[in-house]
Amino acid sequence: MSIKKETDLTGMQKASEAVATTLKQMRNYAQPGMTTKELDDYGANILAGFGARSAPYLTYGFPGYTCISVNNEFCHGIPSSSRILKEGDLVNIDVSAELDGFWSDNGGSFVLGKDVKGHQRLIDTSKQILQKAIYNIKGGVRIADIGHLIETEAKKSGYKVIKNLTGHGIGKSLHEEPAEIANYRDRYNTERFRKNTVVAIETFISTHSTYAETLEDGWTMVGNKGGYMAQHEHTIVVTDGKPMILTEMNEIWN
Ligand code: CO
Ligand code: CO
Repeated sequence: MSIKKETDLTGMQKASEAVATTLKQMRNYAQPGMTTKELDDYGANILAGFGARSAPYLTYGFPGYTCISVNNEFCHGIPSSSRILKEGDLVNIDVSAELDGFWSDNGGSFVLGKDVKGHQRLIDTSKQILQKAIYNIKGGVRIADIGHLIETEAKKSGYKVIKNLTGHGIGKSLHEEPAEIANYRDRYNTERFRKNTVVAIETFISTHSTYAETLEDGWTMVGNKGGYMAQHEHTIVVTDGKPMILTEMNEIWN
């Protein structure tokens, strides 16, 4: 969406506060021994407290309120009462929701407890790349150039990017134009970021895979060549200068 009036911005800020607070609190609440269903229920309560409704549930009929993906699962992991979190797990939580007609999206990967499996470098790389990508976005910048930046930075650190997962426009629904903000230089995409538009920028940095494939449950995505993936996502407003980061209070950069 494009921010046209003050109420557009305040609406987006409120929806973003809901998803950012939920993500932050879920990350702090997660502990070894907890099931992903317990963690999702906790997040669902926080969203409800804001009067916000889960976006994947509303839009796609997703069987949960937030996406919780663990270890080899890349994204869209279904919260489950049989999935027990363990020390050192690579966990990704993605929270998106609608509040009063405005939609916001954010996510982040983290290591649960001690980093006994050595995932921290992948996570730190993904965070740094998201930061660099976002601070290079302003009105007029080519979307493909930001994709190129993300892929170049990933390669510098010895990682790959997932080609079929992308950031996206957002605001009046979960997924809007621009439909695909890829993590590589998509030479067929000649679109540019436009001032005042709202977009969700997300990294998909991986150790081995370059494509994500859906499992038989119809939701969970894993890598075509296995390995691990880290994702970090903010919803932002494009300006003439530094973007306004609507979900900054999720503290995924801290
Ligand atoms: Co998104
Ligand atoms: Co998301």
